[in-house]
Amino acid sequence: MKNIINEMKLRLPAISVNESVCRSAISAFLAELDPTVEELGDIRLAVSEAVTNCIVHAYRDMPRGEVGNIYISVRLYNTREVSIEISDNGCGIENVEEAMRPMFTTGEGNERCGMGFLVMENFTDTLSVKSKVGRGTTVLMRKFLKQPEENVSDLISSSVKGEK
Ligand SMILES: Nc1ncnc2c1ncn2[C@@H]1O[C@H](COP(=O)(O)OP(=O)(O)O)[C@@H](O)[C@H]1O
Ligand SMILES: [Mg+2]
Repeated sequence: MKNIINEMKLRLPAISVNESVCRSAISAFLAELDPTVEELGDIRLAVSEAVTNCIVHAYRDMPRGEVGNIYISVRLYNTREVSIEISDNGCGIENVEEAMRPMFTTGEGNERCGMGFLVMENFTDTLSVKSKVGRGTTVLMRKFLKQPEENVSDLISSSVKGEK
């Protein structure tokens, strides 16, 4: 049976310093499941993109001096599933399907390249994006971590093959 074994909720102001705060907090929280370096790297990348979107896009219409929030909820399951929900109550996305297309961006200049959702999709096992204009956006990502035995046998087979 699938049970939640641990849960974390965070609320942080949507300011750029909190991109690395979110990444580090989630990494620390996941340590209990002893993810591989690769799994942890994947999750950190996906989290970075989702949090950056809250910081860069969600509150772009806010009056100067006001700051919105990023809400994070992470759950660990006994099945080694990790679910990460990152949401904001910002401007929302008019057309989610279009926003998720590679290279679609509303960012100005060349600072954004429209690959955020693609990264989230490629580095997690499931991705769902829900958004309402004027209400906000919720990104839900799941990652299924390997069983520890699989990690050990991977290590053995790669050392046999002479890989690092
Ligand atoms: N949390 C969000 N709030 C409002 N708009 C968003 C949010 N996340 C993504 N978007 C929209 O989706 C587009 C694509 O996002 P993404 O793939 O991360 O590319 P980029 O951030 O480089 O523009 C953004 O340009 C923006 O218009
Ligand atoms: Mg982005």
